[in-house]
Order: sequence, then structure tokens, then C-alpha cells
Amino acid sequence: MDRWEGRVAVVTGASSGIGKSIATELVERGMIVVGLARRVELVQDLSRSLADRKGKLFAVKADVRKEDDVVEAFDWVRKNLGGVHVLVNNAGMGAYSPLTNMDREQYEKVQTCFGTNVMGMVMCSSEALKLMRENGIDDGHIININSVLGHFITRRCGLHVYSASRYAVTVLTEGLRRELAEAKSMIRVTSISPGLVRTDILKTVGMPNYEESLATRPIITTDDVKRSVMHALSAPADVQIAEITVRPVGEDA
Ligand SMILES: NC(=O)c1ccc[n+]([C@@H]2O[C@H](COP(=O)([O-])OP(=O)(O)OC[C@H]3O[C@@H](n4cnc5c(N)ncnc54)[C@H](OP(=O)(O)O)[C@@H]3O)[C@@H](O)[C@H]2O)c1
Repeated sequence: MDRWEGRVAVVTGASSGIGKSIATELVERGMIVVGLARRVELVQDLSRSLADRKGKLFAVKADVRKEDDVVEAFDWVRKNLGGVHVLVNNAGMGAYSPLTNMDREQYEKVQTCFGTNVMGMVMCSSEALKLMRENGIDDGHIININSVLGHFITRRCGLHVYSASRYAVTVLTEGLRRELAEAKSMIRVTSISPGLVRTDILKTVGMPNYEESLATRPIITTDDVKRSVMHALSAPADVQIAEITVRPVGEDA
């Protein structure tokens, strides 16, 4: 990880859960981190709590579904820090959306899910790549927080919209890797696919009886995902960890 010290990382969704854990670890390791979130005050609180660490955390308000927010956030990085070396596309939302029970509220949920998990990732990656190119950074790294549901069709009904958004992440991650390889770039792309992780997202998915279901299902922590991110980042510069699946032992999804 030494080669990343003093360099710039953007972490989307740094206000809670997995993103907060990753942003914290990158600051501990000496990176200059820009944490994006709608609840920017939570990132500001985190920044204050990390004030005496090796690196630094800046908080920037952005809704990754909104093109203007994304462009302005990366403009802030351009003006204040120059380039970006690492992007962690972590901002995301789950959605319990049974396909046989759709209504206008559900249509909006589907749009929000794809807007955040797919368009947010595409726009942030594109803006980060521009900043890498502008600054001659050819050893950058883009990490997409994906899901095991981006790799198989679950038997759990109601999660297929979310899963479809994650399949898109799987395809777009590999597509970006191939385009970068064709361009003979050394920028690396990694998909990290967690199984069930204990975070606030589970409360907002809208899954019926979720607390009951969680009590009986194996679950990992945000630290477990963070360690996978550090593993991918700390690989030698010519080694690409393309995909990591990290899930609790015994998960049956
Ligand atoms: N927990 C799991 O079981 C699990 C499993 C596999 C994959 N994942 C993925 O892991 C990622 C992190 O989720 P988490 O579990 O840590 O949940 P979380 O605690 O709810 O965190 C979600 C983060 O995403 C941010 N976010 C959501 N929508 C956003 C938007 N439109 N613009 C900017 N930021 C947005 C939230 O920030 P604000 O609300 O402040 O904007 C928050 O920081 C997600 O992509 C999720 O799909 C989670």
C-alpha cells in the first residue's frame, strides 16, 4: 500500500457502512480521500474524527444519480487536489421490488436503483478517468463494489431488479477492463462482490421480515469487505485482481 501514500482516492457513499470503513482505512494508510455522499455532514463528522491520522478526508456533497453533482464533485477534486488515483464506486442501494407487484412507487424505486448502482458508477468512473488522463496518471485503480447477486440469479424473489443492476456492474467492470487493456493502459479495474454484510442498507431495502431473516442468516462485517479492497489495491502494479467474492461461510443465496 506504500505507493498510494499521499495520493488521492475518491470513495462514493462514504457516509456509512462499507464506504465509511474503506474511506477510514485509506486515510489510516496515508491517502488523501474525498468522500462523496448526500448526507455530507456524516462524512464531515468522520473527517473530524480522523484529523490526527496519516492521511486526510475531505467531504463533498453529491448525489451520484445526478450528472451535475458528479461533474461538480470531480471539478472540486480537479481544482483542489489535481488528479485522482483511486476511485471506489461504493454508493449503492438495495431494492425489494417483486416483478409481479409493480406500481408507480416501485417504478421509481427501480429507477433509483439503476440510477445509483449503474449510472452513478458509469458517471463517476468516466469523470475519474478524465482526471487520471489530464494528470498523466496511468497506474490508477477503479474498484466497483458489486454483489454476489451480480453473478447468479437468486431464488430469493423480489431481489431480481437489484440483481439486474449488479449484473450490469459485472459487465461494465469487465468492459472497462477490456477497453483499458486495448488502450494499453495500466489503470486497473476490480469488482468486489460481497454476500450479506451487516450495514444500514438492509433496513432500507424494504424486505418483509428482514430482521427475522437476518437473525438466522450468516453475515459478514464491513471490515471483511474493506480487507478485500486493500488486497486488490496492494497487489503489485502489474497485477490486476479482477474479481473478489467475499461472503459469509454457509451463505445459501
Ligand atoms: N450490505 C450488504 O449486504 C451488501 C452486499 C453486497 C453489496 N453491497 C453494496 O455495498 C455498497 C455499500 O452499501 P452498504 O451496505 O455499506 O449500505 P449503506 O450503509 O446504506 O451505505 C450506502 C452508501 O451509499 C450512499 N448512497 C446511496 N445512494 C446514493 C446517492 N444517490 N448518491 C450518493 N451516495 C449514495 C449512502 O450515502 P448517503 O445516503 O449519505 O448519500 C451511503 O453512504 C452498496 O453499493 C451496496 O449495494 C452491500
